[in-house]
Amino acid sequence: MPDPDAVNSLFSRIAGRYDLANRLLSGGVDVFWRRRLVALVGKGRPADILDLATGSGDLAFALCRGLPGARVTGADFCEPMLERARAKQAAAAPRFDAVRFERADAMRLPFPEASFDAVTIAFGLRNLADRPAALAGFRRVLRPGGCLCVLEFSQPRAFFRPFYYFYLKRVLPRLAAFVTGDRGAYEYLAGSIEGYPGHEGIRAELAGAGFRDVRVSRPTFGVVAIHQAWR
Ligand SMILES: C[S@@+](CC[C@H](N)C(=O)[O-])C[C@H]1O[C@@H](n2cnc3c(N)ncnc32)[C@H](O)[C@@H]1O
Repeated sequence: MPDPDAVNSLFSRIAGRYDLANRLLSGGVDVFWRRRLVALVGKGRPADILDLATGSGDLAFALCRGLPGARVTGADFCEPMLERARAKQAAAAPRFDAVRFERADAMRLPFPEASFDAVTIAFGLRNLADRPAALAGFRRVLRPGGCLCVLEFSQPRAFFRPFYYFYLKRVLPRLAAFVTGDRGAYEYLAGSIEGYPGHEGIRAELAGAGFRDVRVSRPTFGVVAIHQAWR
């Protein structure tokens, strides 16, 4: 189980270079994955959206751009990541004024029951210390009929797995050391992905937390999975 203090300190260290590293290390495809999530969430026409583990805010901004009229709360427990998000928002003003950023721990959500139409989390669930407890908390803050959408690294399709893990374990930490100056952070990434359940495992965890009608899509040979589930 990830240690929250270690996770917080890791993201504090790389916050300044996080966006650049994301674009370079994913070849820009992370932008497409977030867009796909926005399209899925948008089908429910949500008015109030909570984006957890929002980091430097890329998904919160994509939700704001893709779903005009929606109010987006971006929450994260790492202040340096939130500082990056707020700086990007200020630089783009007034384009993303429908987003507000707030410091919050995804394990102890400071929001009343049934306060959002949609909860999203991109590349955050894997880092949480207690997934079943976290998922129960996400469900609590959703309105009945509201949807949770999780974008996360996953176990890719079998034929692609050797190439993927070679990249993840051998290439990525070296590249990341060059871009962020922090090789350890990206060695953690490889380990955390390897230890994370496949898409069927996450589907079962969502159902176990009381979500209904769990759906999954697996873009890019299953390198990531997007799970959608309803309260
Ligand atoms: C890999 S980044 C993802 C950022 C963003 N969602 C994206 O798509 O780029 C993971 C984020 O999760 C945050 N995080 C990890 N554990 C958390 C927790 N318990 N509560 C709130 N945020 C957390 C980290 O601070 C970090 O900003």
